[in-house]
Amino acid sequence: MMNEPQFITIEGIEGVGKSTQCALLAKALNQNYAVEIELTREPGGTKLGEAIRSIVLDPDLPSMTGHAELLLMFAARAEHLSKVIRPALSKGRWVICDRFTDATYAYQGGGRELDNAAIVLLEKLVQSGLTPELTILLDIDVEVALRRLMMRGTTDRFEGEQRGFFERVRASYLNLAENHPNRIVVIDGSPKEGVVHESILSVVRERLF
Ligand SMILES: Nc1ncnc2c1ncn2[C@@H]1O[C@H](COP(=O)(O)OP(=O)(O)OP(=O)(O)O)[C@@H](O)[C@H]1O
Ligand SMILES: [Mg+2]
Repeated sequence: MMNEPQFITIEGIEGVGKSTQCALLAKALNQNYAVEIELTREPGGTKLGEAIRSIVLDPDLPSMTGHAELLLMFAARAEHLSKVIRPALSKGRWVICDRFTDATYAYQGGGRELDNAAIVLLEKLVQSGLTPELTILLDIDVEVALRRLMMRGTTDRFEGEQRGFFERVRASYLNLAENHPNRIVVIDGSPKEGVVHESILSVVRERLF
């Protein structure tokens, strides 16, 4: 392929199917378009990032302050950008990332109701202008997502939140999509996996090839 390496993120509330769809998209792009893919996730993607992930998701640490959580997310992101995302793009690999900065706006901004200005500041500091080319926002009814999580078992620190928290997160995500219509495409996450995958693939084909 002659295309520039692309940075794609997949976002949405817990249980909407992000990890499932990231894996399907990575496989399809690699097999059908011979694109080299770096499949990664946030928080995480590096050794330090995964250690931070286990801290921020630990259900035994429920009393972390909002700012502590926010700074940990950006600490993981700084590491991820410099050790994984930027190097992959510069080698011509496409990056598919399971959650990125939109999740910070949605969870720490919307869910935890932290000041957006702090997130804007940290985004500028850590990303120096690097943003995804395309973001797929998988959207689903909170009730349906929570049911999927119950079927999956185990609960992390975010999944232990009340329904109102997830409603705020979902509303923030939809608000982000309205504010960034050229980057964020909302896709219904409620149909079967294969149907959602086809919708994502057609957006990627249309936008990036
Ligand atoms: N389209 C779908 N229809 C029904 N079930 C699905 C669908 N997509 C994924 N699932 C199932 O729902 C659960 C959540 O999916 P997945 O782990 O991909 O979501 P996620 O958005 O990555 O969640 P988290 O934010 O917690 O990481 C899994 O058990 C998965 O097999
Ligand atoms: Mg996941």
